[in-house]
Amino acid sequence: MSAYQARFKVWRGDPSGGGLEDFTVEVNDGEVVLDIIHRLQATQVSDLAVRWNCKAGKCGSCSAEINGRPRLMCMTRMSVFSKEETITVTPLRAFPVVRDLVTDVSFNYEKAREIPAFVPPPELAAGEYRMQQMDVERSQEFRKCIECFLCQDTCHVVRDHEENKEAFAGPRFLMRIAELDMHPLDAAAGTGLDRRTTAQDEHGLGYCNITKCCTEVCPEGIKITDNALIPMKERAADRKYDPLVWLGNKIRRRES
Ligand code: SF4
Ligand code: SF4
Ligand code: FES
Repeated sequence: MSAYQARFKVWRGDPSGGGLEDFTVEVNDGEVVLDIIHRLQATQVSDLAVRWNCKAGKCGSCSAEINGRPRLMCMTRMSVFSKEETITVTPLRAFPVVRDLVTDVSFNYEKAREIPAFVPPPELAAGEYRMQQMDVERSQEFRKCIECFLCQDTCHVVRDHEENKEAFAGPRFLMRIAELDMHPLDAAAGTGLDRRTTAQDEHGLGYCNITKCCTEVCPEGIKITDNALIPMKERAADRKYDPLVWLGNKIRRRES
């Protein structure tokens, strides 16, 4: 395939407003959308703001929406589009725009800070931790997360509902709670922290209606819904409807 000229619509603006601007840019064999954005920056709009670092799908910073779908620009090959197609590139919709394609993703860092860290088992010294391979593999899937926040951006709970952001941590961070809850050495329960209850009551697990949109956009292929959110919902429900837990709560309420 030889070089051709592709039509692009790229969102330009800042918090005060903006809109789509039309461009025609050269495309060569093997290029990805980020290459085209860089060429646009180098040849036509030198002040175009775009965030990127690795160009290898590993830093999670080039997230944007391409034809309305949340994607990594560096991992989206131009060959998936036809030469005639006009390709639209817009910033992540769920987060405030800083400028052009760059958004302020600090919502995610705030949510990350709200989740209590792993609690080391008090009876074991460093180096004495032992885990079944099965347990290692289960959490390993979640550790592949590159924090691109595409799942956070696509989740309908916050995508068009700014008002839900306070009560909802989003799939990436509910997954983090699930990971810690599954960790066989996490001693949070011994400190009085019930991760399932906090997922439900403080981090908005109940808002998730398992549409799996988060899973569909994850560039790491993590099965966020099936392997993290649904199991945690089941465990939270088990706990809620466990007759012994129910009786204990009732007695505690009476005593208080
Ligand atoms: S499965 Fe849950 S967390 Fe994922 S996009 Fe749907 S509502 Fe959001
Ligand atoms: S879970 Fe997937 S989509 Fe979500 S932040 Fe991590 S890598 Fe990105
Ligand atoms: S530039 Fe690092 S993931 Fe795209």
